Amino acid sequence: MTQQSAETLTVRDNRTGKEYDVPITDGTIKAADLGQIKAGDDAPGLAVYDPGFVNTASCRSAVTYIDGDKGILEYRGYPIEQLAEKSNFLEVAYLLVHGALPTKAEYDAWVHEITFHTFVHENVKEFMQGFRYDAHPMGMLMASVGALSTFYPDARNISDSENRHMQIVRMIAKMPTLGAWSFRHAQGKPWVYPDNELSYTANFLSMLFKMSEQKFDADERLVKALDVLFILHADHEQNASTNAVRSVGSTQVDPYSAVAAGVGALFGPLHGGANEAVLRMLKRIGSKENIPDFIKGVKDGNERLMGFGHRVYKNYDPRAKIIKKSAEDVFEVTGTNPLLDIALELEKIALEDEYFVKRKLYPNVDFYSGLIYEAFQFPPEMFTVLFAIGRTPGWLAQWLELVQDKEQKIARPKQIYTGDRTLDFVPASERWA
Ligand SMILES: CC(C)(COP(=O)(O)OP(=O)(O)OC[C@H]1O[C@@H](n2cnc3c(N)ncnc32)[C@H](O)[C@@H]1OP(=O)(O)O)[C@@H](O)C(=O)NCCC(=O)NCCS
Repeated sequence: MTQQSAETLTVRDNRTGKEYDVPITDGTIKAADLGQIKAGDDAPGLAVYDPGFVNTASCRSAVTYIDGDKGILEYRGYPIEQLAEKSNFLEVAYLLVHGALPTKAEYDAWVHEITFHTFVHENVKEFMQGFRYDAHPMGMLMASVGALSTFYPDARNISDSENRHMQIVRMIAKMPTLGAWSFRHAQGKPWVYPDNELSYTANFLSMLFKMSEQKFDADERLVKALDVLFILHADHEQNASTNAVRSVGSTQVDPYSAVAAGVGALFGPLHGGANEAVLRMLKRIGSKENIPDFIKGVKDGNERLMGFGHRVYKNYDPRAKIIKKSAEDVFEVTGTNPLLDIALELEKIALEDEYFVKRKLYPNVDFYSGLIYEAFQFPPEMFTVLFAIGRTPGWLAQWLELVQDKEQKIARPKQIYTGDRTLDFVPASERWA
């Protein structure tokens, strides 16, 4: 018997009795390496069936690291806890996009660039004003980000690094403007232009809430809390919307079109909509006395405790801890929300209850974020828009990595065909005769 390398997988095909050695690299095998395994010379090669990509790595990435069992989240190696406490959203955006923290000069230039690209062409405004009065703000955001590709046709030149940088700056800068306008549209309020004297997040709040005052001065604690929420949402490795950005981006389309696909993916209730479900659940529970009955219903399998459990985190979601603290800061300004008491009590019970402990169900990022957004007086439809603004640097960092990655190809999965074959077509005139 020949000596096999330890870093290989030996596969025996029981259909043929043949054995194959497949190299293992970074804990993975290449799905393409299984293609050599065939039942006969003319038979198709063995493929991998993996709906939802539950066990398929689609790329190599140096952007975000997650250890779900230990509850670790790091952007470019920096723990999320430290970034949320000591950094700010634009610095984190720089880190994600560039891969390293900025020097003072780099930071100042980055903030300046982003600040001075917050305005959009007036035609974008006119285009957005064409939406129905009750248009969902996520639909408006998705369409308007996609529409930016028509305003910046040069964005198609994705092989030029300066050009890529320009589009990244534009998109991070303009997302709050588009998001705020989609909010004002639903309310029938006049749209507020960016105020370039304000910070990124303070300007966003100004565009959302300013009325007749000369300057909108948001409470610093609210600005900080929203900035932290943006940081917490800035990236989460290969989640559904990032995968959508990468998949569309793999066609070498411009980044506005790729990010519009990401916004579309985030719009779905399985991805960006869970915090709204938490809020509805807390309102339905109504008071602490009803919690035991509710928990019993969950344990009997009648419903789920929304905001608990995660596909990746089998420990306390590190973002949930930070958000809990932000919620306290926000309620200091806005006055406490009785739903917070219900949430805290639910969490306390669930963390001690065997059902949840055994299944490793812990609060996730959505458990407290809806409460904070409600304290800001955002309607639930806006929650996902806030998520999208926060996630934009992550989408762009991943897109940038994709377009420079020589191993990447156009995303084009295989299928297992289950339909008919070789039917004879009968023209309509004969079929309907
Ligand atoms: C996030 C979520 C979809 C992850 O699902 P998943 O990794 O596929 O886990 P599963 O659905 O296989 O759940 C595993 C077990 O825990 C239970 N479970 C998972 N989440 C639960 C929840 N929130 N409440 C009650 N039970 C839950 C399941 O019923 C299952 O129990 P079983 O083994 O007795 O059948 C799931 O935890 C969930 O629906 N959570 C609520 C929605 C939510 O907060 N989503 C936001 C995610 S950021």
